[in-house]
Amino acid sequence: MTASGSVRLLLGDARRLRGVASGSVALVVTSPPYPMIPQWDAPFARAGARDFESMHRLLDAAWRACARVLLPGGLLVVNVGDALRTIDGEFRLWPNHARVVRGAEAAGLRSLPYVLWKKPTNRPNAFLGSGFLPPNAYVTVDCEFLLVFRNGPLRRLPPRSPARAASRYGRAERDRWFSQVWEGIRGVPQGPDGRRTAAFPPEIPRRLVRMFSLVGETVLDPFAGTGTTLWAAAEAGRNAVGVELDPELVRRMEAERLRRGFPPG
Ligand SMILES: C[S@@+](CC[C@H](N)C(=O)[O-])C[C@H]1O[C@@H](n2cnc3c(N)ncnc32)[C@H](O)[C@@H]1O
Repeated sequence: MTASGSVRLLLGDARRLRGVASGSVALVVTSPPYPMIPQWDAPFARAGARDFESMHRLLDAAWRACARVLLPGGLLVVNVGDALRTIDGEFRLWPNHARVVRGAEAAGLRSLPYVLWKKPTNRPNAFLGSGFLPPNAYVTVDCEFLLVFRNGPLRRLPPRSPARAASRYGRAERDRWFSQVWEGIRGVPQGPDGRRTAAFPPEIPRRLVRMFSLVGETVLDPFAGTGTTLWAAAEAGRNAVGVELDPELVRRMEAERLRRGFPPG
């Protein structure tokens, strides 16, 4: 049984990551506000971004900040979904995943094989369009991306590293986790008070933390939200750091940290 790690909460901006030391983070697991999804229009507009490209330019700054705080060989995992939206009368896909890849690579990070998180649906034959006549129906968008990037070359660890041995996973976990499509993980319902937090299910960061970091290392979520990544990391014996712009969410995470009994970082 691994001892739980600490949780440090910072009210701040993912584009700067003030208070997070350069080269101090082994793994970033995060889900930013998704460009072109109406839920995030107002926060993006407050930051001066009103279209796909300018929204992504704000996220580009966050990927640059992640590159600064990651240790050499450290990993960034970004959960993002594409958006479907009609603008000026034209319905189309806004490929957030492709634009995040461009932004992260421009920040100096290298793309690695990614995961498609296929969300279970209650409508197995759902499609967008009408009838059975080609060609104007659309493929259903039921996958989100878990994009994986590395900061520079592969990490070199000392032979027989005790932290590595303590972080071992089993064969069944390896076979399930390292396949490219993850199925059977349901999305999380929005908060009971109607506050839309877009939290991801705990199973997503639980797997990623154990796949891509060692016990005792630091795991960061620069868009921490309700803290899902932080609780998964601390439960797995990693030290978690969460950065969040919304003071009310930081207050809620602090209450949750105390309730769960994680020491402050
Ligand atoms: C998709 S949610 C993250 C949800 C989180 N994964 C969870 O499970 O709760 C994105 C979060 O980023 C926050 N946010 C938006 N812009 C930010 C910025 N510039 N810096 C830090 N946090 C920001 C929002 O307030 C929101 O809580």
